Amino acid sequence: MKRAPAETDFLVIGAGVAGLRAAIELSSAGRVTVLAKREVTESNTQWAQGGIAAALSDEDEIGLHLQDTLNAGDGLCNAEAVKVLVGEGPERIEELIQWGTEFDRNGTKLAFGREGAHSRSRILHAHGDSTGREIVRALYAKAKTSPSISVCEFEFSTQLQIAGGRVYGASLIDEAGETNQIAASAVLLASGGLGQLYRSTTNPLVATGDGVAMAFRAGAEISDMEFIQFHPTALYLKNAPRFLLSEALRGEGAYLRNSEMLRFMPKYHEMAELAPRDVVARAIVHELEISKMQDPVVYLDLTHLNARHLQERFPRIYSTCLLYNIDITTDLIPIRPAAHYSMGGVRTGLDGRTTLPGLYAAGEAAATGVHGANRLASNSLLEGLVFGARAGKAMRNELQQSNRLPAKTSAPVSARNEADAEKAIREIQDLMWQDAGIVRSGAGLKRTMERIKEIGPALINPQSRRGWEAQNLQLAAALVTRAAFARQESRGAHYRIDFPAHDDVHFCKHSVIRGESVRFE
Ligand code: SIN
Repeated sequence: MKRAPAETDFLVIGAGVAGLRAAIELSSAGRVTVLAKREVTESNTQWAQGGIAAALSDEDEIGLHLQDTLNAGDGLCNAEAVKVLVGEGPERIEELIQWGTEFDRNGTKLAFGREGAHSRSRILHAHGDSTGREIVRALYAKAKTSPSISVCEFEFSTQLQIAGGRVYGASLIDEAGETNQIAASAVLLASGGLGQLYRSTTNPLVATGDGVAMAFRAGAEISDMEFIQFHPTALYLKNAPRFLLSEALRGEGAYLRNSEMLRFMPKYHEMAELAPRDVVARAIVHELEISKMQDPVVYLDLTHLNARHLQERFPRIYSTCLLYNIDITTDLIPIRPAAHYSMGGVRTGLDGRTTLPGLYAAGEAAATGVHGANRLASNSLLEGLVFGARAGKAMRNELQQSNRLPAKTSAPVSARNEADAEKAIREIQDLMWQDAGIVRSGAGLKRTMERIKEIGPALINPQSRRGWEAQNLQLAAALVTRAAFARQESRGAHYRIDFPAHDDVHFCKHSVIRGESVRFE
């Protein structure tokens, strides 16, 4: 296995869509080292099913994609970021196609699916429901053609190296627990999300908020952490993972039914099953609360749809559900919402620049404000592509500007054993699910904030990979709860029972955390 070198020109932390796209942009400017925490095939991108949204069909317009994104964001999107996303998206996708991405087609024309809160069918998909996997395959193949890009797997970045206020590298820990440092002219955090903060999540095990935690520890500004998106439909079965059941299923006409087998979404929103995700997730929570079942679930019903079409359009979902004895063409699928995506992250401008010189962020790890309070379905792969490319372009200029320093070892923090880290992670996941999930209250958030503080870094072993993950999750949990407690209103994915309405006067703003302060601007 390739170990990370001691020095590179550009360091890219994360090998999902944002990291790989940035690396390709950087490859003509110098040596690029891309670090993957596990295999390249283990990222949130890899698990993205539904697709990638772009106004590319004859019936669509960039202005409509813009409006749908703004509407889903519930008043909080950074309109400039949205313009960049929807405006540059089509070109980035054309480029992906040139690089060999095989999107599904009807004959020779691209096939477009529908998802929640979109006014047009504009979701490109690949191999039915493996869109993220196909995009990573094509980007990785393209990256491998460049001799200046090295991809190092199983290199987990733990700390940013900083001197004189400038980020100049990172500390790493490999699979065997050996530590190492790498110095670079500029560092990109493209390390994905933090779904593992919650007991139920669609995210893989690697999604432990590493980017946001590293950036915060280094002194960067963090934004919009209170906005966690819960995907309405994750498989809910004992002894089965919370496998994502793509929103594209509802785009094809699937219904949601409650324990009495009644379709309930029409009574919550005019778009019924295709309402924005936050609306559907809250409606499901309400139906679960009023259900008389012991361990309540609601159901996704596809039984009225054409069986052969479902098998062809959703081969991965069909075969995965069969493993659990569910035939999606004939059986109702038990589901509940699960943590899916973080709208917040490391605060950046439109070129990925964070508030720390030398540090950039892109994709789910970043917060440009593009998603506002609730991300529109299938805008996240697009975000990774568009803002990954932009960050790569901006980083090229750092090569001349930086005054690179040798990497240093960071001081070790107190050691505890691995079991303590596991125990801390489980407790954090339970607390967050209970009090910082789909429905929140000031009292619950306060309780969780206090307990999270007690769990604190001192209880966690930061000298093993799992210890670092525990510490990152503890920090990410503190950031989410602090922002959620401070936002005394409900908006998008952040719902407070003690403040159920919007408060545009005080809170139609982004939360920003740096050190001990939380402000809204
Ligand atoms: C899905 O397929 O439902 C997930 C797509 C997304 O999160 O945008």
